[in-house]
Amino acid sequence: MERKASEMGMNRTGTMAHPVKSKETIEGSEKYAPDIPGGASVMAKARQDFAREAGNLGTVPPPNLKGMAKAAMALLKGGRATVFVDKLGQRAGFERTGARLYELALSKLDVFGTWEGGPSREQLEKIRLDELRHFALVKRTLEKLGADPTALTPAAELQANLSEGVPRVMADPHVNLLQSLEGLMTAELVDNASWELLIELARELGHTEIAEDFQRALDAEQEHLALVRAWLAAGTKLEARVGGEAAGAPA
Ligand SMILES: [Fe+2]
Repeated sequence: MERKASEMGMNRTGTMAHPVKSKETIEGSEKYAPDIPGGASVMAKARQDFAREAGNLGTVPPPNLKGMAKAAMALLKGGRATVFVDKLGQRAGFERTGARLYELALSKLDVFGTWEGGPSREQLEKIRLDELRHFALVKRTLEKLGADPTALTPAAELQANLSEGVPRVMADPHVNLLQSLEGLMTAELVDNASWELLIELARELGHTEIAEDFQRALDAEQEHLALVRAWLAAGTKLEARVGGEAAGAPA
């Protein structure tokens, strides 16, 4: 199926679409001030007041030491372990969503096909499995620490809320495969930076073995990012080329 990402056509969002009406709109906005008192500084003040009064985004549940007390105690090192569990919870949630994102990309591939230098089904499926494996790795690590891998930690909620637009956009039926790759790029950039931080944190806390396992995950994430960027570049350049023909998006 053919659907260009940047097709020329009617778009009424810019002022150039109707210079006369646009001029009147600008004049109107200058003539009539907002009828609600206040301004940007009042709004900033209100936000600051709310921030002072509101509670935490959430809390990290205490570890369950039953059955694995010894191992967990060896791994948990004081209050700092809470930070580690929080960030592990964040990775678990994001990697699980990551697998879903590649499922969404696979659906786009089925509808729109790919292009020269674009993703293949095998590549997307392989990365999907990588993300699932990473989720399993984080889950096992949390269990070793006596933490509940099903708990939504504050850092997990933060990252999920920040990136909620990614699955939404990728599931949008108007979005083609090339456009959906922008979602994968956003996710992979976050993935790379987050694994780097997690590895640093693991080393800082003396979890050398965990850090080594996580380094292998980061190696895979670096490959994912390089691939997504290459697919996106190839597809965008192909679409920009006059008469550039290919299956899928940049047809
Ligand atoms: Fe990834």
